[in-house]
Amino acid sequence: MKAAFLTENPKNTILNYGLYCNSCHFRYNKYEINSFCMQCEKSPIEARFDLNKSISKDIIDQSERSMWRYAKLLPILDIKNRITLGEGWTPILPMFRLANCLGISSLLIKDESFNPTGSFKARGLSMAVSKAKELGIRSCIVPTAGNAGGALSAYCAKAGIESIVVMPRHTPDAFKKECKAFGAEVILVDGLISDCAKLVAEIKKDRSCFDISTMKEPYRLEGKKTLGYEIAEQMNWDLPDVILYPAGGGTGLIGIWKAFKEMLNMGWITHIPTRMIAVQAENCKPLVDTFNELQLDASNYQGMPTIANGLAVPHPFAEKMMLAVLSQSKGTTLAVSEQEIIKSVKEIAAKEGILVAPEGAALLAGLKFLLNSKLVGADEKILLLNTGSCYKYLDSFEF
Ligand SMILES: Cc1ncc(COP(=O)(O)O)c(C=O)c1O
Ligand SMILES: [Zn+2]
Repeated sequence: MKAAFLTENPKNTILNYGLYCNSCHFRYNKYEINSFCMQCEKSPIEARFDLNKSISKDIIDQSERSMWRYAKLLPILDIKNRITLGEGWTPILPMFRLANCLGISSLLIKDESFNPTGSFKARGLSMAVSKAKELGIRSCIVPTAGNAGGALSAYCAKAGIESIVVMPRHTPDAFKKECKAFGAEVILVDGLISDCAKLVAEIKKDRSCFDISTMKEPYRLEGKKTLGYEIAEQMNWDLPDVILYPAGGGTGLIGIWKAFKEMLNMGWITHIPTRMIAVQAENCKPLVDTFNELQLDASNYQGMPTIANGLAVPHPFAEKMMLAVLSQSKGTTLAVSEQEIIKSVKEIAAKEGILVAPEGAALLAGLKFLLNSKLVGADEKILLLNTGSCYKYLDSFEF
């Protein structure tokens, strides 16, 4: 057991891991700065931990009420590099009134709006900025639909690292203001996140800054995987039958599934009963179209803005990994309209007292479709992953 641990800092021994390309499995040096795989078709690089059945749940730090309770399964080598604002360990709440209206027995919501900067992006950016600090990076840049920019700016402020945020001009003001408050340089672009990514590529030619784009570095995924560990632990290791996830770039979807597979390898769970459902907006549904074989892949998809900013990702870099999760979990993907998203924000607020982000609200509309089409049964254990708070989007709403 002891041999499985690295000894970089004896006070913070973590399980050993290596970095590998998800597609061609080329091994990368974890002590160096890595982005994505250059050997094959530019696939994401992921951290793979040495896991076996002798690793007990005792490695969870029960005294830590944040995602860092799983630090032994996370790739930060020295605890002094941890940049934390208290992210993770968010509640799972029952939604009795909504369940009753829908005629279903069990409806849960994991409410990620409790996170620093009001979204689940805090998990990935806490991890990635911690790693950036560990690797001696002094400047980070991100193309963002909004929430990732806010989270990057906050964690960089805490770390004393420069942050550059490239965001669509149409993003609500609150997103821009929070980044500025945290000291980020905010650059606005006419277009979607894919256009922001093109500008990031240009900026990187002239300025030395690390690109922390979704799935284009290995560590945001590790932060997001803590969602899967938390869901299992908070549900007493009895996983939901169905998880609905609002998918843009897909880090959370891929991260939850990665955690489930890791837990299976350690024997913490005996099987994975969960079907993963990716919900998108009709205005931007590249994954749905590829899944339904309307296109070969998303590379030429034309998306439009949506009130659920985070879902406006026309060319998700990790599309293949998202599709693999849907197929391995026997899940599916579907899209909902702008009107349904707006109606769902209001319905969840009025019935459950939670102002969920429009991305999270899309899940209720998705669930209604799944129940009506009998793809999900009334007696199944259903979990909605509300990825953020609506407070930054309020100017887009009339109540
Ligand atoms: C609130 C919210 N939900 C969901 C998403 C989509 O997340 P991902 O790109 O990891 O799939 C985003 C991304 O910006 C978001 O801000
Ligand atoms: Zn590769």
